[in-house]
Amino acid sequence: MATDANALWCVVPAAGRGARFGAGIPKQYLPLAGRPLILHTLERLAAHPRVGGLMVVLAAQDPWWPGMDEINGKRVHTATGGGERADSVLAGLRALPGSVGDADFVLVHDAARPCLRYEDLGRLIVEGTAAGGALLATPLRDTLKRADVAHRSLETEAREARWRALTPQLFRRGELVIALERARAQGVVVSDEAMAMELSGLRPLLIEGAEDNLKVTTPADLQLAEFLLGRTA
Ligand code: CTP
Ligand code: MG
Repeated sequence: MATDANALWCVVPAAGRGARFGAGIPKQYLPLAGRPLILHTLERLAAHPRVGGLMVVLAAQDPWWPGMDEINGKRVHTATGGGERADSVLAGLRALPGSVGDADFVLVHDAARPCLRYEDLGRLIVEGTAAGGALLATPLRDTLKRADVAHRSLETEAREARWRALTPQLFRRGELVIALERARAQGVVVSDEAMAMELSGLRPLLIEGAEDNLKVTTPADLQLAEFLLGRTA
């Protein structure tokens, strides 16, 4: 519960517009198995006993957010995001309750990933806190090509040691805020929290998670997520 000293807060960036999806509304609010996609995401996070609260980062004047104070007994707060995902995450980190100290670990998880597995979240929390910072990721399985502008394959790149970064990602609040602020000051748009930490010289641990923790980006992804929600836990 939220009063537990071990309880972790999770920042959930949900301020994107879903341009690549191309629906009339942001993808996190599209119906998925009969309910807004974001509700599945929040429930999966709130289901874990180590998660104490959720900080959902919304676009300014978001008319679709259903509004809630809690989910599965966990507190739900909201903050207003910014132009890039990293801006939204930083806004969420700054808006966390004062009870979350700089040395406390926080999770960051995309609203657009509704298929997170309980077991992966648990391993990230246990192994990531021990490592001082970590993210879920999957090793690359396909052969990787470098292309020219005409989409001609120029060469085949080594697959070894290449991973796809997923979320959640877990870092100490203070370290992550400093890393994100530093990246912003350098004019670097980081695409995930781990990238900000790397730029600060830290080495986040890659924890292998299920590949079906997909980020809904296109209509085909939404169909796949609907299928997966029927069978993953
Ligand atoms: N996000 C955010 N603030 C932004 C941009 C993105 O909070 N300025 C969130 C999205 O809502 C999503 C997550 O970050 O939950 C991952 O981003 P992405 O999949 O790129 O979502 P969108 O930016 O909405 O999609 P697109 O890039 O196609 O517009
Ligand atoms: Mg985006």
